Amino acid sequence: MKCVALTFDDGPGKDTPKVLEALSSRGAVATFFMQGPSLKAYPDIAKQVGATPGMELGDHSWTHPQLTGLGRDGAEKQMRQTHDKIKELTGKDVSVMRPPYGARNASVDAAAKAVGESVILWDVDTMDWKSRNASAVRAEVKKQVRPGSIVLMHDIHASTVAAVPNVVDDLKAEGYVFVTVSQLLGGTTPGKVYTRFG
Ligand code: NI
Repeated sequence: MKCVALTFDDGPGKDTPKVLEALSSRGAVATFFMQGPSLKAYPDIAKQVGATPGMELGDHSWTHPQLTGLGRDGAEKQMRQTHDKIKELTGKDVSVMRPPYGARNASVDAAAKAVGESVILWDVDTMDWKSRNASAVRAEVKKQVRPGSIVLMHDIHASTVAAVPNVVDDLKAEGYVFVTVSQLLGGTTPGKVYTRFG
């Protein structure tokens, strides 16, 4: 089966419900890596993501620092705070985290292990934060995706939100099945680093 895991970082944002609608109406799911300021600004939207069937939530740290500069304990604190906030809002214990900027080292991995989360990177970088262009986001996914891919996007940018329907339709036309990160990887081990499946 051709599987792909769409992921959205830095939210939840005000337009995240549009992403949920675009996904759900097409029978697709995704994983949302959330950070502290966004969770504080949009707690109800975080709850909505948690309550939408099939969606996975993940930890994107509390204040979006370079976790590699904080030491093991500092990194753990960043993850635990976000883990606990997501649990408080949605009732879910997240098992996946994405380090801001993809910045990780042995200390970050050890911190993730202590919090019970695996470290999720990506193999498809849409560069959506840079282009801020829906057509460019769509084109990057088409160009880079292959079975087992983890696709990095950001649901805080209107251009990305606008691209999601086309991205999903393109992938469906190519025969892809949408899964969460945990589904794609067949379960994950805390502290272990993943970039894609296979
Ligand atoms: Ni981020």
